[in-house]
Amino acid sequence: MDQFHELLVNRRSIRRYTEEPIDSESVKLILEAGLLAPTSKSSRPWQFIVVEDKEKLQQLSECKEHGAGPIARAPLAIVIAVDPSLTDPWIEDASIAASYIQLQAAALGLGSCWIQVRGRFRADGIPAEEYVQELLGIPETLPVVCIISIGHKDEERKPVDTSKLLWEKVHIGTWKEI
Ligand SMILES: Cc1cc2nc3c(=O)[nH]c(=O)nc-3n(C[C@H](O)[C@H](O)[C@H](O)COP(=O)(O)O)c2cc1C
Repeated sequence: MDQFHELLVNRRSIRRYTEEPIDSESVKLILEAGLLAPTSKSSRPWQFIVVEDKEKLQQLSECKEHGAGPIARAPLAIVIAVDPSLTDPWIEDASIAASYIQLQAAALGLGSCWIQVRGRFRADGIPAEEYVQELLGIPETLPVVCIISIGHKDEERKPVDTSKLLWEKVHIGTWKEI
């Protein structure tokens, strides 16, 4: 099988990580992947905030009520903030960079998980974005789209079963009602 296709089939969201730190060369490659991501009009509106401090990771995991737990268990989190004044498809730009980061992590044999921040809230009603901005000193003009938690895998996940892919979502030539 083609190596890239194999990577796509084997990449699964990993939410449990070992204590092992990620070596600096791998961290650099992962960040380079984000910086290599294509952006609308090459505006490169993103900022990547690298967090490795245990206490900060714990605090980041409290950015919303549900679904941010993996950050507290990870040795590394990359917070993706964007400047919407630079380009209108800023959500797309941030999302592509996040995907590149996840794929580079997978190519290095590491596990990662996308933690949604934009549009999410803490139990006390505070928007997750504001909480993360304040915690890390990110200007309030830069919305936080997501956080990617990354670490050495401490759980096994099966590759995607490609026989179950939703081919009915593919329309050849024209829309076809199912
Ligand atoms: C936009 C987006 C938001 C997500 N938000 C979260 C999240 O907040 N917490 C979480 O644990 N996983 C989150 N995920 C991971 C998805 O749950 C996961 O990708 C999906 O269940 C498919 O599983 P897979 O990645 O193993 O193929 C998110 C994924 C995407 C693309």
